[in-house]
Amino acid sequence: MNDYIIEFKNVKKHFQLSQGGFGRNRKIVKAVDDVSFRVERGATFAVIGESGSGKTTMAKLLMKFEDITEGQILVDGEDISKIASKDALKAYRRKVQIVHQDPTSSLNPRKTIKEIIEEPLIVHKMGNQKERMDRVTELIQVVDLPVSYLDRYPHMLSGGQKQRVGIARAIALNSKLIVLDEPTSALDVSVQSKVIDLLKKIQKEFNLTYLFITHDLALVKNFADYVIIMQRGNLVEEGRTDELFLNPKQQYTRKLLKAIPVIGKEEQAFLDRIQLDDHTISM
Ligand SMILES: Nc1ncnc2c1ncn2[C@@H]1O[C@H](COP(=O)(O)OP(=O)(O)OP(=O)(O)O)[C@@H](O)[C@H]1O
Ligand SMILES: [Mg+2]
Repeated sequence: MNDYIIEFKNVKKHFQLSQGGFGRNRKIVKAVDDVSFRVERGATFAVIGESGSGKTTMAKLLMKFEDITEGQILVDGEDISKIASKDALKAYRRKVQIVHQDPTSSLNPRKTIKEIIEEPLIVHKMGNQKERMDRVTELIQVVDLPVSYLDRYPHMLSGGQKQRVGIARAIALNSKLIVLDEPTSALDVSVQSKVIDLLKKIQKEFNLTYLFITHDLALVKNFADYVIIMQRGNLVEEGRTDELFLNPKQQYTRKLLKAIPVIGKEEQAFLDRIQLDDHTISM
């Protein structure tokens, strides 16, 4: 088996805007522009960048919600642009799941928590009713929620609890690759670390690979093994998290690091030596 679960090879996604003129004047947004990277199986791989840098677009390409303009994406060594039939797409969806940024809008308000977690099992025709119920009961316990919550509706849960349901659903099919698109940015800071702890726990338990999209560098430091920094569709820097924090090569990365409110002594000593002209970063 290939050591790399994801490979992006010179991936481009250009959006053509319908308004904005004809022919030569037609506007193109280069959301992802010639991006290459590889993700090791079992790793937490962070994609960092300010708003509009192309992070969600990369997630959509990987999920096959959007097709790439140019290049190649391999998952488990398979070129995902070759997935053409409905059945093949369905099989692919068992492999890759996503946890969305906002748990409130991503959970159907009219369904119970049981129905929400069970849905992927039904779609993928997994087990009979009793087996599915057993699996749903197991999953809610994996994400540390009381079994009695299965009869509740999403609005009866807190933000953090809803995100736990989103995580339970994402792992329901035993998918090994999970895309986390800013999974904690809609949550209170106090809840964020608990959700991150849960993600770490289940990663170990089920040997998951995470593609972790965020603009929170502080979070990445304690969570991700590897980081890439995106800016306007381009990959500007990449490296092991500990190395990148200690020795950022690009000015842009240094700016991002400077913007972290609390970091360790070593990094602080390094950053204190860096002079920056411009401290303002929009995230
Ligand atoms: N369907 C689309 N049509 C046209 N442009 C798009 C489309 N989707 C994304 N874009 C543009 O591509 C760029 C990257 O968007 P993307 O959503 O990937 O950014 P992001 O890094 O996820 O930002 P955020 O941190 O705000 O979520 C933006 O300029 C965006 O406006
Ligand atoms: Mg986004």
